[in-house]
Amino acid sequence: MKKEDLIVYEIYVKSFKDSNNDGIGDLNGIKEKLPYLKKLGINYIWLTPIYQTLNIDNGYDIKNYYKINSDYGTMKDFKNLIKEAKKHNINIMLDMVLNHTSTSHKWFKKALKGNKKYQNYYFFEKNINDKPPTNWQSKFGGSAWKYLDDLNLWYLHLFSTEQADLNWENNEVRKEILKIINFWLKKGIKGLRFDVINLISKPIKKPWKNNLESINENKSYTDGENIHKYLKELNEKSFSKYQNIFTVGELSSTDFKHFADYSNYKNHELDMGFMFYHLKTDYINGEKWSKNKQKNLKEFKEIIIDWQSYQQKHHGWIANFLSNHDQPRHISRFGNDKNYHYQSATCFAICYFFLRGTPFIFYGEEIGQTNLYNTKIEEFNDLETLNAYKKLQKEGLKEKEILEIINQKSRDNGRSPFAWNNQKYFGFSKNKPWLNYKNIYNITLENDLKNKNSIFKFYQEIINLRKDNKIFRTGKIRFLDNINDNLFIYERYDRTKKFLIILNLSDKKQDFTLENKGKIILNNYKNLNDDYLNPYQAIIFED
Ligand code: NOJ
Repeated sequence: MKKEDLIVYEIYVKSFKDSNNDGIGDLNGIKEKLPYLKKLGINYIWLTPIYQTLNIDNGYDIKNYYKINSDYGTMKDFKNLIKEAKKHNINIMLDMVLNHTSTSHKWFKKALKGNKKYQNYYFFEKNINDKPPTNWQSKFGGSAWKYLDDLNLWYLHLFSTEQADLNWENNEVRKEILKIINFWLKKGIKGLRFDVINLISKPIKKPWKNNLESINENKSYTDGENIHKYLKELNEKSFSKYQNIFTVGELSSTDFKHFADYSNYKNHELDMGFMFYHLKTDYINGEKWSKNKQKNLKEFKEIIIDWQSYQQKHHGWIANFLSNHDQPRHISRFGNDKNYHYQSATCFAICYFFLRGTPFIFYGEEIGQTNLYNTKIEEFNDLETLNAYKKLQKEGLKEKEILEIINQKSRDNGRSPFAWNNQKYFGFSKNKPWLNYKNIYNITLENDLKNKNSIFKFYQEIINLRKDNKIFRTGKIRFLDNINDNLFIYERYDRTKKFLIILNLSDKKQDFTLENKGKIILNNYKNLNDDYLNPYQAIIFED
């Protein structure tokens, strides 16, 4: 298998299928649904963190890397899942959260007791003038430093206070990390998703500097000095020793050049990476917690075009996606989940699925699952959301305005229980799920499959198209007609053949001549008009 052959399906473990009816998804639930995933056609599952945790950040705060979160099952369940998945030709990719550990991890606890060796596993800094060492901000709000009274020291946490950053400069830490990765590789996993991996290399020279332009900038530790060295080392001493392992890095706020360096096979670092710029086009001045900017399809499209073109030229490889567990659902965000549910779900599916790179489907998008549309703050769970709520309250915004923002931006939107059928709790569990999901449009797999227009069946079709046509996997990409902002048009081609993909990303009819474009191999509307595209119409022609 090659990286272009992967069709990855991300599972937010807590929300996929609850087998023991405690309201929380689990490993046996996933095992139960393997035939469903096989039917869909995917060949890889990325599981969000399954390790022991205090669940402050739903598993991204790891207490013990070698133990399974008991809410999700046991090591035996995990081994069975790998074994059963294999029978369905599905491989498992695990989430490696190695930028930080939970503050309940034994290393951190020892550090708190004053053990110097373990303090050096993290970033503990002296208290000077009762001020944090730098003005860096945590991604979840507030300073990135927490002061410890007893020790008169500060420690760094780029995420929540319960997620302390690891010191990768320390050889001992890197040895521990290799041990963790190798432990899981030996269990038979075939993929690794590295959480915020381009943040692991902090500046070598101290004292660290303040952010100057804005306290929210993250240049000091993004794509840091030793990042490529660390990744090459990981590659050499862990996954390259095993066969057919695929790696993807979460590369937040990276740049074109670093991205290509991370994912160029010649560099022996990672196979591919996620970039996020296209998912920030609805932020106002880069601020996430504000009301969505008016849809800016031009910017959205241009970012994709620029990234695709640069990475093609410089041998980078993009993991393409529009939704994940940190993002609102793309059908609610970029599409129109109320009036053009099927059309916008299928149009945006094609929008990313045939780009150069490897597609990552987010659980539930294959039935068009939407945002939460909550009415009360109590219905949210995510700590980033709850922190933002407090911040917006302090800024004096009215409750209604705050809820509007949070409904648009909360990460919980992407974490709702999968809606399998029309029973209570949509067949996810027999008991109240951990996260409230009203499912206002009553979108369930059961209903979708009854529809004339099934989104699930459309996803099956596009998966088969990728499998059956090498050009979609290895061909070149070229972008056409950038005149109409609402249309996104690209070609995948090689010397023998060409596919033309034409998408109307808007909810308005768009004039466009469609005569003589070739043979239609996919169309999310029944008809084809010679001179216009319907709202969210998506067509693939073969030439
Ligand atoms: C990125 C993960 O996707 C997100 O869910 C998590 O909160 C942060 N990294 C911190 O681990």
